[in-house]
Amino acid sequence: MFQTRDPKDLSVNFFSLLSDRWGLVTAADGKGCNPMTVSWGGVGVLWNKPVATVYLRPQRYTYGLMEQNEFYSLSFLPADRHDVVALCGSKSGRDTDKTAACGLTVCRDQSAPYFAEAELVLICRKLYAQDLKPECFVEKALDGKNYPNHDYHRMYIGEIVSVLQK
Ligand SMILES: Cc1cc2nc3c(=O)[nH]c(=O)nc-3n(C[C@H](O)[C@H](O)[C@H](O)COP(=O)(O)O)c2cc1C
Repeated sequence: MFQTRDPKDLSVNFFSLLSDRWGLVTAADGKGCNPMTVSWGGVGVLWNKPVATVYLRPQRYTYGLMEQNEFYSLSFLPADRHDVVALCGSKSGRDTDKTAACGLTVCRDQSAPYFAEAELVLICRKLYAQDLKPECFVEKALDGKNYPNHDYHRMYIGEIVSVLQK
């Protein structure tokens, strides 16, 4: 059963959650919703608001959904559901219904969809979106190493409007 939490009361470690557990960015599509695995991102404070930032390459199906929707969720599943994040990080919503393939139960917040199987859910409202730019790399080696195909991530900064935790 989810409880609504104040972001300031969270004691989870987002470094290990993102790096080891991996998260799911989920936005609505016409038929339902599509979860996509992410391991790059962060949470913090900006413009005096609690925010979550995610980075999406333009070829992701989820990229289009992020453009269409005002809200998205960032969810973390229990460690024993690594099968879900593995599938959602290797299949595209363009040709796979990942929600059905993983047997996930969709919950509909009034804003963004998320999953009953999650342990922690951040519901986010898009505040700012900007593409990373090659000329902005201070550490130039990162550009060639991460973007040989010039598919620069778009950064989405979202206000965390709701935190749900079991
Ligand atoms: C561990 C892991 C982390 C990932 N992190 C990101 C990320 O932060 N940004 C991104 O654009 N893709 C990331 N991906 C790749 C997408 O999850 C993957 O391409 C996915 O199939 C895209 O799904 P979609 O086409 O339904 O959006 C990651 C994949 C894995 C396995």
